[in-house]
Amino acid sequence: MCSQRLKPCLALELLLLFHLVLPTSTQGHSEHWVTAISGTNVSLQISNLPAKYKQLTWFYTTSQKILEWESNQTILFNSKFKGRVSLGQSHDLCIHNVQKEDSNTYILRVLTESGTEKEWHIPLEVFDPVPKPEIEIQKTQEVNNRCHLQLSCRIPNQLINYTWYRDSGPFSTGLQNSVLEIVVEPNNYSTFYTCQVSNPVSSKNDTVYFTSPCKLGTMEPGHSSSFFPPDLPCLF
Ligand SMILES: *[C@@H]1O[C@H](CO)[C@@H](O)[C@H](O)[C@H]1NC(C)=O
Ligand SMILES: *[C@@H]1O[C@H](CO)[C@@H](O)[C@H](O)[C@H]1NC(C)=O
Ligand SMILES: *[C@@H]1O[C@H](CO)[C@@H](O)[C@H](O)[C@H]1NC(C)=O
Ligand SMILES: *[C@@H]1O[C@H](CO)[C@@H](O)[C@H](O)[C@H]1NC(C)=O
Repeated sequence: MCSQRLKPCLALELLLLFHLVLPTSTQGHSEHWVTAISGTNVSLQISNLPAKYKQLTWFYTTSQKILEWESNQTILFNSKFKGRVSLGQSHDLCIHNVQKEDSNTYILRVLTESGTEKEWHIPLEVFDPVPKPEIEIQKTQEVNNRCHLQLSCRIPNQLINYTWYRDSGPFSTGLQNSVLEIVVEPNNYSTFYTCQVSNPVSSKNDTVYFTSPCKLGTMEPGHSSSFFPPDLPCLF
């Protein structure tokens, strides 16, 4: 890892140990997806580096080198990463202040002592934290004691998953969308509806409260002591 300061001999022991324990690497092997929050530091690493190698190169694309290690020397290439990357203790690629535009499949190429080349592909996806959603009441229409409800929680221009909850738990997957459209009756309305927005790195939510199928409350139940219905007559 980037921040660890292992003694060189210990690092070598670890590398040797990894070599013994883990299966031999395959050529052009793909690693698991790495996800990160924009603005943080990430470390791209592979689990099965050979114990010894002559040269190790991190690429952005096959034609754009980021950095190269050879004979204990590291060369940083002129790339958009200059000043933001370093080689970690276990020869992982450390990217500081990672941005959404850094989402990419990175390539690690290693030239072994015996002269063969091994290659790994490490996909990185960087996400912004989701913004706080705000539920918009698009429709509360009462017909024959039933309420047609349409609540929206849409956040534009972001890859986001929406999950709606009511007092009995999450709604069925078929209703999970940026807009919740339901019909409720006195026997199955919920006292609240929560919209949760999420991506692989973060999650936020908003809640609206109801006192009857079609009637909004303005406060969470239990905090209702500070809730005054607007039509309360003044009693002097
Ligand atoms: C990211 O790396 C930079 C440079 O090494 C450091 O100053 C900063 O504290 C790190 N940020 C986090 C969240 O670790
Ligand atoms: C509430 O019950 C009515 C009548 O059974 C049904 O049509 C409606 O879909 C139910 N609403 C929800 C949100 O389950
Ligand atoms: C949304 O959920 C699906 C299924 O859980 C998941 O595969 C996908 O990565 C999620 N997308 C985002 C942007 O969080
Ligand atoms: C909504 O967010 C709060 C924190 O802001 C969290 O405690 C709660 O578990 C979240 N609820 C849902 C349903 O995601």
